[in-house]
Amino acid sequence: MNFLTAVSTFALACSSVLAHPSGDIPTLEERQNGIVVTSGAGGSTVYPRLEVRQMKDTRPNQYALLVLAMQRWQSQSQSSQTSYFGISSIHGVPRQNYNGVGQCQSCGGTDGYCCHDSVHFPAWHRVYVALFEQEFLKLVKTIANEYPDSQKSTMVAAANQMRWPYWDWAAKPPAGRPHLPKIVTDYEVTVNGPKGTTTFRNPLFRYDFTDSSGMYYSPFTTWKRTYRYPSTNGVNADSQTQSATNAFNNVRQSLTDQIYQLFTNCHDYLHFSNDDAGSSSAGCSLSLESIHNTIHSTAGGTGQGSVSAGHMFYLPTAAFDPLFWLHHCNVDRLFAMWQTLNPDKYGAQQVAPHSTWTIAQGSTQGPSSPLTPFYKNTNGQFWTTNDVRDWANTFKYTYPEYSNSDGSKASITNYINGLYGPNGNKVAGSSKREAALLDNLNLDVLKDVPDALADALPSNPLAAANGTLFQYFANVQSPRYALGGSYQIFVFNGLPTSEDPMTWIFDKNLIGPIGVVAQEGMEDSKLITSNQIVLTRALQGLVDGGALSAMTEAIVAPFLTKNLQWRILGPKGNSIDPGTVEGFVVSIFASTASQPSSASVLPEFSEFIPLLDVTKGQSGGANQTLTQYISDLL
Ligand SMILES: *[C@@H]1O[C@H](CO)[C@@H](O)[C@H](O)[C@H]1NC(C)=O
Ligand SMILES: *[C@@H]1O[C@H](CO)[C@@H](O)[C@H](O)[C@H]1NC(C)=O
Repeated sequence: MNFLTAVSTFALACSSVLAHPSGDIPTLEERQNGIVVTSGAGGSTVYPRLEVRQMKDTRPNQYALLVLAMQRWQSQSQSSQTSYFGISSIHGVPRQNYNGVGQCQSCGGTDGYCCHDSVHFPAWHRVYVALFEQEFLKLVKTIANEYPDSQKSTMVAAANQMRWPYWDWAAKPPAGRPHLPKIVTDYEVTVNGPKGTTTFRNPLFRYDFTDSSGMYYSPFTTWKRTYRYPSTNGVNADSQTQSATNAFNNVRQSLTDQIYQLFTNCHDYLHFSNDDAGSSSAGCSLSLESIHNTIHSTAGGTGQGSVSAGHMFYLPTAAFDPLFWLHHCNVDRLFAMWQTLNPDKYGAQQVAPHSTWTIAQGSTQGPSSPLTPFYKNTNGQFWTTNDVRDWANTFKYTYPEYSNSDGSKASITNYINGLYGPNGNKVAGSSKREAALLDNLNLDVLKDVPDALADALPSNPLAAANGTLFQYFANVQSPRYALGGSYQIFVFNGLPTSEDPMTWIFDKNLIGPIGVVAQEGMEDSKLITSNQIVLTRALQGLVDGGALSAMTEAIVAPFLTKNLQWRILGPKGNSIDPGTVEGFVVSIFASTASQPSSASVLPEFSEFIPLLDVTKGQSGGANQTLTQYISDLL
């Protein structure tokens, strides 16, 4: 039975399941009908999802189970709804029902159930990763039981405490290591398996399709495996792994600063959750989703002229790359941390700007709307945003920041300052139990600001007379679907070294990239996405290096007017003049941030003041206020 036949069988069976009055236990008939219920990791104990490098370094048995289970899972039949292929296909292509959950009447032409530009973005992906983890762990446990008796109890214990890992793409990598972990780029892995030492193709590096004809888009329908920075569109393409590695090394700092900006400036759910400009403000002109998009574009690669970018770059194909799952696990972790910082804020309503497989454009989505196709039970009920607020008790996982501390707002803030703050000194996966200690290190937060607290604050070139630190931002509004596919925006200090668009992600003058992840066929959607590149650190570096005398507006504004550059790399690998893209606008904002007295509080920002003159009159620059641009467009 191929996948198509399989899902139509499920669709036929679905109505009887929905009507079934039974309780929690599926009948044999229901199980045969293949309705997949999402219940998460299961068991009674909550275990942490580990950073993937931390897992490999400190839990070799779990790492062995990770790659062995992924290898076996990826080799399961594509027609199974719970195979790696089956779970990955929920997100986008193939254009098929999952769990028998049919397309809405006006939802033609959409690719899958994934919720983007949507208030469902954080919670929908939370349930999605929980389903992935649930099916993954079944194989982990099976494999643990295959070890010889001398090792079995150790491996079973490792399996029982295991959860799906995350890749912290916002934190500094451990010293001397690339930002994109070798764990996902090595071609082969060698681990201790049930039959002894075994070497095989790394299942975190790529997924091999048995049949890619359902991928809908060219060249994805002919490619036999997932790619990052593919070398050609041909069937014998290779991933250019070194390019992916170099690109991530070059953009990591911008990601760190963006995540810190998200935690410090986005305090309501709508602003935080997604990148629809209708939900943005000057200080929070980014979102969990907009930052997450840049991981997709940086991992997939820019394409090269006529060569397509890889699977991660496009929403319909992204979930087939194993990196997607490590990435989205981190997205969920950041969501959890944000929840702790903003305990009273959860859920919001939003009108869907475009359709998904089941959500009609224009319909209102809220915290109790169904997150299709994820069944909560066999009675036909779907999970909702409200249902998954308490991730740990609902799905039996948490993150090291919680298992290593009391999980309070102060403790989580400590981790955020240490991992992502302006002078944070922690590396990814190092969230040990030291939250209490960090409180005593509060002066360390200021270590690049000599004598900032001691005296003479007004003479600190980075600080205002009242002691707050100057901050600058490039807010970028862009029409998400206008270019007929995913594209990238790059913000530079000075001209890029080369005008060849393929080099921009690697350019030494790059301050930060923005990935705008889209798909063909949605050009009608007028959706404007909000993004923000934090300029503060680059400018502080110039002050440190003597190129700028201070961070005051009188000095920075003219400097940026002269030096700030931005470029758009279009879906076909070509440079696009920003002035020709209706709705695209770069505007610069200034603010100042308080210097917190302790590492368990976050800085507070003063009002965000537009510096319209900086980009005025330039192609894609701001000639009027952003509110005016957006109301003109919509
Ligand atoms: C500190 O000074 C800056 C620059 O003058 C100002 O924008 C900000 O609002 C002030 N912050 C506080 C907390 O007074
Ligand atoms: C602002 O005006 C300049 C010069 O006329 C133009 O190139 C630019 O695209 C305009 N900006 C926007 C966002 O329309």
